[in-house]
Amino acid sequence: MGKDVIIACDFDSAEKTFAFLDKFTGRKPFVKIGMELYYAEGPSIVREIKRRGHKIFLDLKLHDIPNTVKKSMAVLSRLDVDMTNLHAAGTTRMMEAAIEGLTREDGTRPLLIAVTQLTSTDEESMRRDLLIEKPIADVVMHYAENAKIAGLDGVVCSPLEAGKVHERCGEKFMTVTPGVRFADGDVGDQKRVMTPAQAKEIGSDYIVVGRPITAAEDPVAAYERCVREFVD
Ligand code: C5P
Repeated sequence: MGKDVIIACDFDSAEKTFAFLDKFTGRKPFVKIGMELYYAEGPSIVREIKRRGHKIFLDLKLHDIPNTVKKSMAVLSRLDVDMTNLHAAGTTRMMEAAIEGLTREDGTRPLLIAVTQLTSTDEESMRRDLLIEKPIADVVMHYAENAKIAGLDGVVCSPLEAGKVHERCGEKFMTVTPGVRFADGDVGDQKRVMTPAQAKEIGSDYIVVGRPITAAEDPVAAYERCVREFVD
């Protein structure tokens, strides 16, 4: 499994997305399509970005009854994405159903990773809103283990949790980590951040980088800097 930099294409239209991607005339970056862009443009945006030669992480975070997730994953698999995800909170049975739906007739499937607890959820809101009394770190690790038992390939987590996830679930269990910032860059609304080099050091398999690249004066140079620090 290769380490790679995934650019979060958090745009609200195909036009803005292609204006951005057109700048990359050399190496075609792995891109993340999230809910905003997918709901704006539908499956055609996935097909078009794929046609242009990019790998795609479709970040739709499914969470529903197992049967619905299984059938929806079958549709996403036919879209030929490279990676997609769901909420581990949907239970182990839902995650197993997702794997079934995602697996094509020839036995291949996109990578499937789980969101454990969103980084926007803190211990206080877990206790108050969800009636979960355990420390958040324990919940994250338990959900990661559930994902592994269900046969998933890894989790989305903070780069600060990546080392622990590997300790508990093995080196081959992938960690996909947002919250990455350059040492001399803007942190923005992210709270717990790491540089690409630190994320590499701690064992992240993929870093997801949005604004440090999309809002950079020279996005291609910012992307190449990420690749240099994280992959090379
Ligand atoms: O612009 P920035 O680098 O902060 O973008 C990070 C991307 O990763 C965004 O698409 C954001 O939604 C996503 N993400 C995150 N934290 C999580 C899960 C996903 O920042 N826990």
